[in-house]
Amino acid sequence: MRPVIVPSGRFYNEDCVAGAKKHLAADSVDLIITDPPYGINGDELHQHYNRDEEFVVEGYVDVPASEYGEFSLNWIREAERILKPGGSIYIVSGYTNLYHILHALRQTELEEINHIIWKYNFGVYTSKKYVSSHYHILYYQKPGGERTFNLESRFGLEEKDPEGGSLNYQDREDVWIINREYKPGQVKNKNELPTALLVKMIQYSSNEGDLVCDMFLGGFSTAKVAIGLNRRAVGFEVAPRIFAAKVSEMEAIEPGFLLPGLRVPRIEKRANRGKPWTDADREFLQSRFDQLIRAGKTKKDAIAIVGRELGRGRWAIERMLKALADSR
Ligand SMILES: C[S@@+](CC[C@H](N)C(=O)[O-])C[C@H]1O[C@@H](n2cnc3c(N)ncnc32)[C@H](O)[C@@H]1O
Repeated sequence: MRPVIVPSGRFYNEDCVAGAKKHLAADSVDLIITDPPYGINGDELHQHYNRDEEFVVEGYVDVPASEYGEFSLNWIREAERILKPGGSIYIVSGYTNLYHILHALRQTELEEINHIIWKYNFGVYTSKKYVSSHYHILYYQKPGGERTFNLESRFGLEEKDPEGGSLNYQDREDVWIINREYKPGQVKNKNELPTALLVKMIQYSSNEGDLVCDMFLGGFSTAKVAIGLNRRAVGFEVAPRIFAAKVSEMEAIEPGFLLPGLRVPRIEKRANRGKPWTDADREFLQSRFDQLIRAGKTKKDAIAIVGRELGRGRWAIERMLKALADSR
C-alpha cells in the first residue's frame, strides 16, 4: 500500500508490524512514542485487529484480551528492531494490560529508564471505589548508543519557582500532571494524547530533524506534535476511516508550527561545564568549601558560591564533593 506523504511525514494505513517490516530499516528511528490499543474485552464498539469487520464509531481497532500478550511481543520486537541504538521508546498503557507490555519488554534487549505516571483529568466516575485517573508511561532505550536526553530543553538547571524549588527538577519528576484536551465537535480517536504530554517527551528525547515513529497513530497526535516541533514523523494506523479522516488534517500542518509557542529555558552558561577536573580544581573545591562552611554558610550556599568560582554547576560540585569524601 502506498504511504501518505506530507511535508516531514510518512504514514501507512497498515498493521504496524507488517508495515514496519516492509517500510522501516533496522536502526532507523530516533524515538518511538506510542499508545497501543487497550485490549479490553467486551467493548463491542471495537473492531478486533485480526477480524475482517468494518469498524464502528471512530474506527478504533482493539485486540482481544486473550491475544494481548502475543500482540504486544510482536509489535515491541518490531519497535526494538527499528530503533537506533541509543533511541528511546515511550509506551503509554493503562493498568489492565500493563503486565503484558512489561513481560514483552523483558523479552527484548530494551532497557528501562523510567516508569512515569501520567495523571490526567476526567477519570471515569465511580461512587464505590477510587477514581482511576492515571496512565503508565514506560520509558525505555535501545542499548548500544548514546541516548538523547535534553536536560535543559524546558527549564534551566538554575531556574527556581517563587519558593526557591528547582523548576528543572520538578519538570523531571516521574509523576506528570497533564490534563487531557477537550475537543468538542472534532473527529477524534479514543484516548488522544494531549499536546503538552507529547511536547514534553519529544523535547527531552529528540532533536530537530530526528525521526519520530508512532506504531499506533490513532488521531495522529504524536505525528502532529513531532512535525510541529520540526521533527520528521512516520507511523501506522490500521483503521481505514480514522486514517482517512486524519490524513487530510496532516496535509495542512506546517512543520515547526509549535516552536514559537515553546517556553525558552534560561540556561546559565558555566565556563567549565563538562571540562575535566584538574588536581588544582579538586584541592580548591575542598578547601574553599570547608572554609565557607566554617564561616557559617549553609551547604547549599557554599556549593553555589564555590560553583560560581569554579565555573561549574551545582550537580557537578555535589558529585565531586561526594567523590572526594568517598576517596578519603
Ligand atoms: C489508543 S489508540 C492511539 C491513540 C493515539 N495515540 C492518539 O493520540 O490519538 C490505538 C490505535 O491503534 C490502532 N491499531 C490497532 N491495532 C493496530 C495495528 N495492528 N497496527 C496499527 N494500528 C493499530 C487503533 O485503531 C487505534 O486507532
